[in-house]
Amino acid sequence: MTKSLLVTGIGELTVNDPQAVDNLPLADAAFVAEDGRIAWTGPASAAPAADERLDAAGRAVIPGFVDSHAHLVFAGDRAAEFAARMTGTPYSAGGIRTTVAATRAADDAQLRANVRRLVREMATQGTTTVECKTGYGLTVEDELRSLRIAKQECDAATFLGAHVVPAEYADRRADYVDLVRGPMLDACAEYADYVDVFCERGAYDEAETRLILDAAKARGIPVRLHANQLGHGPGVRLAVEYGAASADHCTYLEAKDIEALAGSETVATLLPGVEFSTRSPYPDARSLLDAGASVALATDCNPGSCYTSSMPFCIALAVREMRMSPGEALKAATLGGAKALGRADIGHLAIGARADFAVLDAPSHVHLAYRPGVPLIHSVWKNARKLA
Ligand code: NIG
Ligand code: FE
Repeated sequence: MTKSLLVTGIGELTVNDPQAVDNLPLADAAFVAEDGRIAWTGPASAAPAADERLDAAGRAVIPGFVDSHAHLVFAGDRAAEFAARMTGTPYSAGGIRTTVAATRAADDAQLRANVRRLVREMATQGTTTVECKTGYGLTVEDELRSLRIAKQECDAATFLGAHVVPAEYADRRADYVDLVRGPMLDACAEYADYVDVFCERGAYDEAETRLILDAAKARGIPVRLHANQLGHGPGVRLAVEYGAASADHCTYLEAKDIEALAGSETVATLLPGVEFSTRSPYPDARSLLDAGASVALATDCNPGSCYTSSMPFCIALAVREMRMSPGEALKAATLGGAKALGRADIGHLAIGARADFAVLDAPSHVHLAYRPGVPLIHSVWKNARKLA
């Protein structure tokens, strides 16, 4: 049976219509969702009747956040590493091995509970779509169970068997790369929406990254890359060459990287919570946007480089530290994330979109950055059903 929901009394509605040239939020707007999708949008005075009604009482309504980069399948935490970092120890990829040991020692139920806890935490902060990577198992069996859990608990699952080289392969890296691109990928392919590689100093170099990306392509699995996080390097260039859905981090970019991203369909996914939590310079979002690159914002929620699940926090950082306007940051956190996940049906509230939205305890989206650290999420809806 068709069920419709009319949302009215919206102080400010951000539609993010992908077709619209001018995307200013609408005042005194309303919309109707039918069978979980947006069926009508317009001025409140012209709103049709519906089975149910939600009065936003002057609050702002935005599309639900699309968190397109997170690592939620893990056990333990690295609070001590964070504390040491804040007093001067630099971040390095090697810390990942601490979480690998804890994750291997955990049973499936513990890993699943951790993912659920974090997805829930994200939902209460306005996130309606979550991508989740593996990368803390690094054996065929541990990557497979991690990916299966990610696929079952999240909206997109990414295989990151090439996160770091595990300690037991330290002296024979090539064997581990062969394991990842052969038996591990064979076992995981069924559940992998994407294949990712941490292409970075201390993780995987260009030649190793190419081998793994080639193996993904040969199996028809789309790719994305951790690129240019800890220094300048080949990551962004490779992401564009391989037609990756996204190049994530983009902390250290050269002019030619920005140009390459701007001339491609690869989304530059910026993760400012990482720069905050590792005390690193922020990515040059302004140059990316001004050059015409597609930009997404995501949390990178993980126990090492950034343990936040909060998209509003990332928006506040993007506005304050990366000179994005509040509107640009909101768009990157919604429509940008949707593009990074190849989804045309989320990240906006135009007709036909999924009715995934958040009601803010604020009159406008600007408050997300203007009132940092304040819980501004009034309620969250996915497919027009209340999620939080
Ligand atoms: O995106 N860069 C690689 N992976 C994570 C860090 C994981 C960790 O430190 O545990 C990231 O920052
Ligand atoms: Fe990451």
